[in-house]
Amino acid sequence: MDIRLLHASDIPHVQHANITNLPENYFMKYYLYHALSWPQLSFVAVDVSRPPKSPYDPPRIVGYVLAKMEEEPADGVAHGHITSLSVMRTHRRLGIAEKLMRQAQKAMVETFQSRYVSLHVRISNNAALRLYRDTLGFRNDKIEAKYYADGEDAYSMRLDLDGVR
Ligand code: ACO
Repeated sequence: MDIRLLHASDIPHVQHANITNLPENYFMKYYLYHALSWPQLSFVAVDVSRPPKSPYDPPRIVGYVLAKMEEEPADGVAHGHITSLSVMRTHRRLGIAEKLMRQAQKAMVETFQSRYVSLHVRISNNAALRLYRDTLGFRNDKIEAKYYADGEDAYSMRLDLDGVR
């Protein structure tokens, strides 16, 4: 498995993974906005176990993290935000999401001196909650009622990045 920075040419494949794995979907231009504004922060996991048959074969993207810096932080503190994270079903429980998250967190500190990273997650999303809370050490900041389009609440979570310095 190769974990590398997101390239603009990966975006259609990342969008495909996002649509497959999550109900929160975005226009192509929103991915592009991330890639152009914060090219250091978003990563993809590429399955390189089978060599490409031709130079035109698309990369086998099996996971991604789409990340950004908060542009106008309400608290005045520089911090990153995880817009979206997912791993294809065929490649789950291999540590890919953890690696993607740690890469994004490191880049937020090294490139933008980010003090913490925030994200939203559905309160019913046990797999993601285990990853964020137990594996990565995020804590619940607050509950945002009816955050999602279908009315589900979100946990607003954050992780202090001082330990990553
Ligand atoms: N059940 C319980 N714990 C889990 C699960 C699960 N299904 N999946 C991950 N974890 C926890 C475990 O503690 C795991 O460590 P372990 O395997 O040693 O027990 C740890 O997280 C690390 O797991 P990874 O293998 O790194 O996680 P994976 O690559 O499988 O991806 C993810 C986890 C991203 C949540 C995946 O299940 C997925 O894509 N789900 C659908 C999309 C999604 O929910 N994305 C997050 C939405 S929130 C957001 O985007 C900001």
